Amino acid sequence: MKNRKVIIFMFVLSVVLHVAYGQHHIRGIAKEREALLQFKAAIVDHYDMLSSWTTPDCCQWEGIRCTNLTAHIISLHLPGQYSESLFLGGHSVVSWRYISGEIHKSLMELRHLQYFNLSFNDFRDTNIPEFLGSLTNLRYLDLSSSYFSGQIPTQISSLSHLKYLNLAHNYYLNGSIPPQLGNLSRLEYLDLSGNSFEGYIPSQLGNLSNLHQLYLGRRYHSALKIVTSDQWLSNLNSLTHLYLDSISNFNSSPSCLRTIAKLPKLRELSLSECGLSDHFLLSFNPSNFNFSTSLSVLHLSSNSFTQPMVFQWVSNTTSNLVELDLSWNLLEGSTSNHFGLAMNSLEHLDLSYNVFKGEDLKSFMNICTLHSLYMDRNNMTEDLSLILHNFSSGCVRYSLQKLSLVSNHIRGSVPDLSVFSNLNILDLSNNLLSGKIPEGTRLPSHLEQLLIKSNSLEGGVPKSFGSTCTLELLDLSDNKLSEDLAVMFNHLSGCSRYSLQELSLAYNQIRGSIPDLSAFSNLKTLYLYDNQLSGKIPEGTRLPSHLSC
Ligand SMILES: *[C@@H]1O[C@H](CO)[C@@H](O)[C@H](O)[C@H]1NC(C)=O
Ligand SMILES: *[C@@H]1O[C@H](CO)[C@@H](O)[C@H](O)[C@H]1NC(C)=O
Ligand SMILES: *[C@@H]1O[C@H](CO)[C@@H](O)[C@H](O)[C@H]1NC(C)=O
Ligand SMILES: *[C@@H]1O[C@H](CO)[C@@H](O)[C@H](O)[C@H]1NC(C)=O
Ligand SMILES: *[C@@H]1O[C@H](CO)[C@@H](O)[C@H](O)[C@H]1NC(C)=O
Ligand SMILES: *[C@@H]1O[C@H](CO)[C@@H](O)[C@H](O)[C@H]1NC(C)=O
Ligand SMILES: *[C@@H]1O[C@H](CO)[C@@H](O)[C@H](O)[C@H]1NC(C)=O
Ligand SMILES: *[C@@H]1O[C@H](CO)[C@@H](O)[C@H](O)[C@H]1NC(C)=O
Ligand SMILES: *[C@@H]1O[C@H](CO)[C@@H](O)[C@H](O)[C@H]1NC(C)=O
Repeated sequence: MKNRKVIIFMFVLSVVLHVAYGQHHIRGIAKEREALLQFKAAIVDHYDMLSSWTTPDCCQWEGIRCTNLTAHIISLHLPGQYSESLFLGGHSVVSWRYISGEIHKSLMELRHLQYFNLSFNDFRDTNIPEFLGSLTNLRYLDLSSSYFSGQIPTQISSLSHLKYLNLAHNYYLNGSIPPQLGNLSRLEYLDLSGNSFEGYIPSQLGNLSNLHQLYLGRRYHSALKIVTSDQWLSNLNSLTHLYLDSISNFNSSPSCLRTIAKLPKLRELSLSECGLSDHFLLSFNPSNFNFSTSLSVLHLSSNSFTQPMVFQWVSNTTSNLVELDLSWNLLEGSTSNHFGLAMNSLEHLDLSYNVFKGEDLKSFMNICTLHSLYMDRNNMTEDLSLILHNFSSGCVRYSLQKLSLVSNHIRGSVPDLSVFSNLNILDLSNNLLSGKIPEGTRLPSHLEQLLIKSNSLEGGVPKSFGSTCTLELLDLSDNKLSEDLAVMFNHLSGCSRYSLQELSLAYNQIRGSIPDLSAFSNLKTLYLYDNQLSGKIPEGTRLPSHLSC
């Protein structure tokens, strides 16, 4: 009996609420719907991204979310869209759909808005609107990669609930970083990288004690400086990600690195293009680094390190590193086995744009977890078989999935590569490899991509290439191959005829005419231009059904 009363009471209450909110609902929606329509009218929408914005219920429109009860708009998700039709080998066709034009201040009406995402659009010649400062319920504001220009409006600092602010990669945002950002005390994520800010990073950012991720620098047109006189960074104890790239006075401020060393939770640290030298780095005692077990990503690219001692320092400082980027330095010479043995989690190592010799590669043969190694544009001049012989005698030959040795001066012919049992991608382009690829050269049994373009290879393709059942991409363009095309396809028509998707033999001296290719059932891209092919394409020659040349 009592229960029934309660139920009836609740029913009545819910009807009353429903009516009350129902009315409110219609009023609220109407005003906010009107605001969205005004916004849409001012926007340039060449790609019809807002085409669904016509029906009566704006909560159903693309990119809009409302609360269930009150139907206020709480989320506006309007990022531009990149869709990439990815062809292998880096030839990709990207289509970009975006909005541009003016951001109408009618949006001020969306007082309940908590999430606003306008990233990846094109707001060239547009400033970040000041009125955004009145959307005081915002938690997430993402205006990244949209070409906004001018200064950050100080009004942003009124968004006291903001947890996430991303203004990265607009390129043209300039002026100084407003100290008022230090008032956004709930901020957990702040990304201002990839812009043209100048001057000092305001030490007020040290008040953002909830910050987990901070990305600064990665300049476009200017460099930031760091205040060294106070210890603002030391307040940011919750930081897990810290990117301080292109900070022009970092190398003259040892106290900064000393402060960073104390951050207890750091997982990713980037100090690229900070003018760091061997002397600077080696003067810090590895045992003072508080994040030694938490750090998994370390970027130190574009500095001026020269000595392999840096590797020792890194391995003494951090033991659980997964990714290390030391590209664009002046490193050379071999480091001791110690590095490989100490690095028991390292998966990605980027040493491109240094001056290593081929023989230095063996320093890394003992990293049993290594998946990818980039050593593009170094000073390797030795014979490929010698370079790989020493390297492949360590456990790395079982773990390595990607090896890139592009743009060295590596000589010799292509040796047997099957010893690298898990290699998926091998790029040897732009070297001095020459001669015929020996018939006995076997590829790693899981190889998916082999790129040896711009060398001086002669002859044709060995049959063993055709029996690599996973091979999707083969790029041998810009060599001196001169074999008959029909013979080459014959050699490739082992099980790789089912897997090959892209084949480039352009810029060679290949003879003959185009044979029947219908056996290559997955071939999508075939480049044969700039060769010495001749004759008619015989009547009845069949091409793979997906082919687009
Ligand atoms: C709003 O309604 C949807 C669909 O009825 C439901 O899935 C969601 O959980 C509700 N959200 C809240 C916050 O009540
Ligand atoms: C904004 O949208 C982009 C593109 O969909 C997405 O990658 C990004 O994570 C979104 N931002 C937030 C804060 O969710
Ligand atoms: C910022 O860039 C605008 C052009 O986008 C320019 O007019 C202005 O002078 C620049 N301001 C500063 C402080 O560099
Ligand atoms: C915001 O920060 C500035 C500079 O750090 C300070 O002067 C100002 O009082 C703060 N404003 C509010 C509303 O807290
Ligand atoms: C943090 O804010 C307080 C006032 O709220 C101010 O006194 C202090 O100087 C600020 N600290 C930093 C590092 O900006
Ligand atoms: C980390 O730093 C704190 C304070 O600076 C210190 O008390 C603690 O012992 C350090 N921990 C490690 C593992 O170094
Ligand atoms: C690294 O640690 C080893 C062993 O403790 C030590 O001999 C060596 O000097 C250290 N090297 C650097 C650069 O810290
Ligand atoms: C290979 O290792 C041997 C023995 O350590 C060494 O003598 C030789 O110079 C190395 N060659 C290359 C190219 O690394
Ligand atoms: C590259 O190595 C050669 C010796 O093989 C040396 O003469 C040259 O100076 C090196 N280049 C650089 C930039 O170190």
